[in-house]
Amino acid sequence: MTRVLVAGSTGNVGSHLVRELRSRGAEVHTAAEDMHRVDRVYVCAADGPEKVARETAVIDAAAEAGVERVVKLSAMHADPASPLPAYRWHGEIEDHLRKAEVPAVVLRPAFFMTNLLMVAEGVAQSGMLPAPTAGRRIAMIDVRDVAACAAAAILDEGHEGQTYDLTGPSGVTFADVAAAIADATGRPVRSLDLTEEQARPRFEGAGLPGWLATQLAGVFGVIRAGGFERVTGHVEALTGRPARDIGAFARDHAAAFS
Ligand SMILES: NC(=O)c1ccc[n+]([C@@H]2O[C@H](COP(=O)([O-])OP(=O)(O)OC[C@H]3O[C@@H](n4cnc5c(N)ncnc54)[C@H](OP(=O)(O)O)[C@@H]3O)[C@@H](O)[C@H]2O)c1
Repeated sequence: MTRVLVAGSTGNVGSHLVRELRSRGAEVHTAAEDMHRVDRVYVCAADGPEKVARETAVIDAAAEAGVERVVKLSAMHADPASPLPAYRWHGEIEDHLRKAEVPAVVLRPAFFMTNLLMVAEGVAQSGMLPAPTAGRRIAMIDVRDVAACAAAAILDEGHEGQTYDLTGPSGVTFADVAAAIADATGRPVRSLDLTEEQARPRFEGAGLPGWLATQLAGVFGVIRAGGFERVTGHVEALTGRPARDIGAFARDHAAAFS
């Protein structure tokens, strides 16, 4: 039985990953102190100023313990030179992982569909879905598919040394998202395209930590530049089944938008 440390087991992806690994017969550990009793390691700390220190400590401990493989949840556009804090932190951690003496797989998902849950209450109240996307498509991905890919990268062979960009099955606009939510809830929902100037106070005035306001505004800048339009087939290649689409996500979360 493969023994897996899930460092980040309570996260959006991590909680699904624990179920996925157990359903595939793995022995799951969630305490970093168990490092010497595991074969493979998943690493994902929450975004924030402690992220690089927390994840590099797990990577160093994994290398020291001689584990067979580390799977890192990163992000599309990870780059140590990125002006977006989370993409920069991921880039720095990926660099650290490349230099560590441990076989590794890096997963770089696109925009999570679960980000939409942050505005679900507003959609329910107003029937409006405002966002500064300039009508661009986003190949958004369901975190359940990210977790299934992580389980495959951890348990299956042939992935070591790979970096996979993970996307949903197609690019969708926020108008498509609004239509999917309307179908799922039976209530009218309209998307509203904001300009960058209209959106800025929503990020800056929301009481968020500075790095998070910068990250969110920056992500929409990447969207407006078409940076999330590309669709990859890696979810199906890794898991053997097609990625979930926005319709499935909206149906499964209809209550949150109602
Ligand atoms: N949102 C997106 O569109 C998107 C897209 C691509 C990549 N990503 C990346 O995905 C990662 C996030 O994945 P996720 O959503 O599965 O993880 P998450 O929910 O942020 O949690 C990851 C782990 O961080 C710890 N944690 C959670 N909340 C915390 C808090 N408030 N303070 C301190 N620690 C906390 C927990 O670890 P312990 O249980 O060990 O304490 C948790 O298991 C980020 O690195 C992000 O950059 C996100």
